Amino acid sequence: MEKHGSESYFVLGEGLLTESAGGRQEMAIAAASEPPLFRFSRMGPKGVNRQLGEPNRKKIGSAMTVGGGGESQIPAGFTYLGQFIDHDLTFDKTSVMLGQTVSPAALLQARSPSLDLDSLYGAGPQDPESAKFYAADGLHLKMGKTAAAEGIPAKAGFDLPRGMGNTAAKKRRAVIPDPRNDENLAVAQTHLALIRFHNRVVDTLPSSVPQAQRFATARELVTKHYQWMIRTDYLTRICAPGSVSDVFNNGRKAFEVGATPTDVPTMPIEFSIAAFRLGHSMIRRDYNWNKIFDDGFGSLDLLFTFSATGGDLGGAPRLLSSWIADFRRLYNFKQAGRNDLAVPASKFNRARRIDTRLANPLASLPPKSFGGSASMADTDPRRNLAFRNLTRAKMVKLATGQQMATFLQARGVTLTKLTKAQIRNGNNGVELDALTQAQREAMLKNTPLWFYILREAELNGGKMKGVGARIVAETFHRAMEGSQASIVRDPGWRPTLGPNNTTFRMVDLLLFAFEGKKALLAPLG
Ligand code: HEM
Repeated sequence: MEKHGSESYFVLGEGLLTESAGGRQEMAIAAASEPPLFRFSRMGPKGVNRQLGEPNRKKIGSAMTVGGGGESQIPAGFTYLGQFIDHDLTFDKTSVMLGQTVSPAALLQARSPSLDLDSLYGAGPQDPESAKFYAADGLHLKMGKTAAAEGIPAKAGFDLPRGMGNTAAKKRRAVIPDPRNDENLAVAQTHLALIRFHNRVVDTLPSSVPQAQRFATARELVTKHYQWMIRTDYLTRICAPGSVSDVFNNGRKAFEVGATPTDVPTMPIEFSIAAFRLGHSMIRRDYNWNKIFDDGFGSLDLLFTFSATGGDLGGAPRLLSSWIADFRRLYNFKQAGRNDLAVPASKFNRARRIDTRLANPLASLPPKSFGGSASMADTDPRRNLAFRNLTRAKMVKLATGQQMATFLQARGVTLTKLTKAQIRNGNNGVELDALTQAQREAMLKNTPLWFYILREAELNGGKMKGVGARIVAETFHRAMEGSQASIVRDPGWRPTLGPNNTTFRMVDLLLFAFEGKKALLAPLG
């Protein structure tokens, strides 16, 4: 079963941190018989004796998932772009590599965070395990065909590739390096957009590029544009722009400071278990998905159903044509001067505000989405995403919000710590009334990092700042720096596929990928 997150964390210098009590012995076994797992690290101090008890985490988890709260100005597509990026960062490429052909250096790289689009490319068309993701020419990525539904014919190029294997369930499975990108339909269609982007870049390469270099040239172009878009469009929407530009212009102060740029980066658990889980708060309960599943009928539950990892495609072998995304409802193309691609405001989906409230379906995730057993009761706290996040932090003794604020300040980062009153009251966020006095005191003193960074955003109009923004910006900076293709290591590089040489946004990526055509961006009309 594919899991969205890691179950155990191999933290450099600490070994394997798992939920079981017998951690020490497992550590020794893992070290002796296996190459290291995905390489996590700890940016700040340990939160020893600062973790909240289970009853407290359960209450906070429940309170955070009752729903409610406001909308943001961020187009909802960015939520799932964020999920796609998370999977790219945390993708363990060894799952698609053949052990005996891989050098130790490649193995290390494969188990390290990067923004190289490994989740799209796998180990490349020459790798025997990854060749299946590619068309016969070894240059294009495969796309799938939808199944006719509601009078809409089957359409080639609008589903992920599927159909391998000998059982219905295996045939349904997406043939992509990272099946987590088929966990819900919104992230699946985002993955498909990236496949199209690569394929269009291949198609538009100058004929002067020799055959043997066409794939590598296309991949580098795709990856650098993707990084530029993340740096200038995605990060500045979710974080206070000043925090992002400070890190990208003046360098890191807290994470792998002074690392040789090409050294293999690690993934700080403060990012993975707390700060970047900010995206969970952006998820909506329902979407005006397309012309057919309109007016909120594109519910999150159905987006799970019409995927093959979180659901079963509604029992069909391929995506039904009636579920093809309408990208005009997920991104604002007016930003690129394409008013003809605008939908009425009432049809447009905005992400939920980044705050301490999560949409209600996240109180009871489909067990398939995290590898749980189908028999888990709806009310089982392990199905509650907020409880899972808080519990994961306890498992690794993650630093609290206050500890990270002190740590970052000591490293010279300018930020203002949240007061107890701010943490308690927030700004139209979760209410902590269900906690006993003692539980509340414990949480205000030792605030779980994830909760802390969400309160920071909530008190800042829904944009990350302070501790959260710094952790996110530094981790992205390092992941881009250490990527094989890197706009950080190549500061003179400029985008060539957008409107000018400084602009390349997600809408530009989509316009390029879908040839600027309404019939491709919104084929249902
Ligand atoms: C419907 C959408 C989503 C669902 C159902 C979902 C669900 C989950 C689940 C079940 C986990 C594992 C929890 C655990 O046991 O530790 C997880 C981890 C995580 N999620 Fe999400 N998530 C979604 C969207 C997002 C978004 C939009 C972001 C960021 C922008 C995000 C960031 C993360 C991160 C960073 C992790 C930890 C990854 C790791 O440890 O490898 N998720 N998510």
